[in-house]
Amino acid sequence: MRNSKIIGMGFYIPPKVVTNRDLAKLMDTSDEWIRERTGIVERHYADEGNGPASLAKIAVERALADAQLETKDLDLMIFATLSPDYTFPGSGCVLQSLMEFPHIAAIDIRAQCSGFIYSLAIADQFIKTGMYNRVLVVGAEVHSTGIEFATRGRDVTVLFGDGAGAVILGPSEDPRVGILSHHLHADGRHYNKLWVECPGCVYTPRLTQEMVTSGRWYPKMDGKFIFRHAVEGMSRVIMEALQANNYTLADLDLLVPHQANLRINQMVAKMLSIPEDKVFNNIMKYGNTTAATIPICLCEAREEGKLKPGQLVCLASFGSGLTWASSLIRW
Ligand SMILES: CC(C)(COP(=O)(O)OP(=O)(O)OC[C@H]1O[C@@H](n2cnc3c(N)ncnc32)[C@H](O)[C@@H]1OP(=O)(O)O)[C@@H](O)C(=O)NCCC(=O)NCCS
Repeated sequence: MRNSKIIGMGFYIPPKVVTNRDLAKLMDTSDEWIRERTGIVERHYADEGNGPASLAKIAVERALADAQLETKDLDLMIFATLSPDYTFPGSGCVLQSLMEFPHIAAIDIRAQCSGFIYSLAIADQFIKTGMYNRVLVVGAEVHSTGIEFATRGRDVTVLFGDGAGAVILGPSEDPRVGILSHHLHADGRHYNKLWVECPGCVYTPRLTQEMVTSGRWYPKMDGKFIFRHAVEGMSRVIMEALQANNYTLADLDLLVPHQANLRINQMVAKMLSIPEDKVFNNIMKYGNTTAATIPICLCEAREEGKLKPGQLVCLASFGSGLTWASSLIRW
């Protein structure tokens, strides 16, 4: 079976910058608290009227240009988001309404912060089996329209930002180059440790005035629980990826972890004794952009000369679900 590899990448961050000080005007928080506990300095919010599909459109255009391809060359689209434009249809179909696509399938993936790695794994299978040759994988989020700008929601609100990233997967001519393996996990027992409860199809009606006024439509999180499980889960799944391919930590050139909290990534690096210069972080500028985080990191790592052909690269994520995952790539 053939390997797949990333043949094009692009990202888009909306221009509107929101600093910690801006948030401190709306809720009881401070620049010091946010920087110290999370590493975040600022994040970007989409302009009104823009959902993840419109952010994704620009990221996809850039990824296509990078791969020197056009939409007509694509065989499949996989769109990862936890903040879909609408309840249904999926954001992949909404993206198809914004750009001219052939009638390729658009699969929406709901795996939160692990959404991009889950999607990459699915795309990889289609290339491996020979069914498709060009698969578009998108991660895009607009959190800013669904977080609470008040002290009650401050633990969650300060963490999230909007953004989009896209990659195009194609077959690798060299069997040693490309995606080596994926390791995908979930533990649904803790689904409500980080979730948005309402509107919910389990309720009749799905949306009530009480849900709106009580704030049950905002994300709720057990921060300490998520933090602890993220450090453990990401560390384990990085080791799983290396061991499955008979590599050790010393072989790793670059770790691209999900960006939920800089302290999580620092603790993972410390636990595994990975030197700081081998870990790519950009949470300071964007906060947590969930499914968009890893493709944005990949683009920036390449721009900064930290991601180079021949390197052994590990992607790792942890998020709501709980879900966690890794991909090992010979770049
Ligand atoms: C949210 C998080 C930053 C909170 O940091 P923490 O060090 O665990 O802080 P705590 O939850 O213990 O809260 C400490 C205090 O700060 C307060 N606090 C919470 N958010 C705050 C904010 N934005 N500004 C100021 N104070 C805040 C708490 O209310 C608490 O006050 P109390 O001691 O009076 O009760 C941290 O738990 C975290 O990052 N968790 C993981 C989140 C995550 O990864 N989410 C996405 C998963 S993909």
